[in-house]
Amino acid sequence: MLILLTGGAGYIGSHTCLELIRRGHEIVVLDNLSNSSRESLRRVQEITGHTIALHVGDLADPEVVREIFSTRRIDAVIHFAGLKSVSESLRNPLKYYQTNLGSTLALLQQMESYGIKKLVFSSSATVYGDPCGLPSKEDSPIGIALSNPYGRTKSMIEQILQDAAFADPLLSIAALRYFNPIGAHESGRIGEDPKQEPNNLFPYISQVAIGLRPKVSVFGGNYPTIDGTGVRDYIHVMDLAEGHAAALEYLKPGFDAYNLGSGCGASVLEVIAAFSRVSKSAIPYDIVAERPGDVAASYADVSKASRDLKWTTSRSLEVACRDAWAWQSANPTGYVDNG
Ligand code: NAD
Ligand code: UFG
Repeated sequence: MLILLTGGAGYIGSHTCLELIRRGHEIVVLDNLSNSSRESLRRVQEITGHTIALHVGDLADPEVVREIFSTRRIDAVIHFAGLKSVSESLRNPLKYYQTNLGSTLALLQQMESYGIKKLVFSSSATVYGDPCGLPSKEDSPIGIALSNPYGRTKSMIEQILQDAAFADPLLSIAALRYFNPIGAHESGRIGEDPKQEPNNLFPYISQVAIGLRPKVSVFGGNYPTIDGTGVRDYIHVMDLAEGHAAALEYLKPGFDAYNLGSGCGASVLEVIAAFSRVSKSAIPYDIVAERPGDVAASYADVSKASRDLKWTTSRSLEVACRDAWAWQSANPTGYVDNG
């Protein structure tokens, strides 16, 4: 297939490019580079030996998308592009609604005009809010009492996609609800490169391990979990990339949502210990107040993805730590200054 990846230069997109090329697909990337650089794709090219067509532009600009759809026979779109910071979305909600909803609507309109019927969308476990039961299943209610605008954009987009699929029986859409993506490609050549202070645990730990930051603040030590710290379902980014390829190759008419996670939870202290072991670095931490909006625990029921997509994760938390450390130690300041 010839696949357009919106936001394909970013963290998850660049790893998915690699997996799609490995499976023999052809890819085109559209990215405005607002949270990424050309360097990620240059390195994907270096690893795979394949050239990637990169269109630098904004997904919300119909001309940019038209240019791609009118000159190439795109079979399917994987839609990663969007803003993803929970904290920024609380400070600047309109920017989040504008970018995430606006660009998705613009994409859907262009797909309709050019008769492109296959779409895989980056959703998030955040749509489950504070899960009423664990593990979270795809048929659990979503969009209820979400704590931030970012999460609401994901839930609203899922609703829009369901409506679009209902109206056009030829549309095949999969919303992939990622749990907590971590790690890097095993080469250590590509990985997560936060442009600002990381919000997420894993890149924060990596930066402490390499000495860029003094210590990790562990948000909350009194949750009803194994050791009082928050529990999440961490998934290696290459397992996630394989999940995209599996979803794309499986797509059926209609709308479907799939949890992509490992199905297991790990606490913040367990993650710190695993990273410390693998990197042989001390990772100092302090337990501080809970972060507003955080839930105690979240992990996936992955039986639907396993049954339909014939996909499960194969990489452990230790492997994710090893690969993230390979990336972080070879690229202490990310893609910048590392040619
Ligand atoms: P990322 O920021 O690394 O990648 C997103 C990419 O989209 C970036 O390259 C950015 O430059 C691009 N982009 C943003 N707005 C754009 C626009 N209007 N037009 C064109 N390009 C644009 O983020 P990521 O971690 O790779 O996440 C990819 C997707 O997965 C996002 O939709 C995110 O919300 C979702 N997601 C991520 C996580 C996570 O923890 N990383 C968890 C759940 C869901
Ligand atoms: N945590 C810390 N210290 C930090 C950062 C995080 O203790 O510096 C804790 C959090 O309290 C939580 C766990 O580490 O218990 C994971 O936090 P992350 O911020 O890494 O991840 P979240 O589960 O809060 O959210 C992430 C993404 C969301 C996405 C969600 C589900 O940020 O965009 O996973 O996919 F929606």
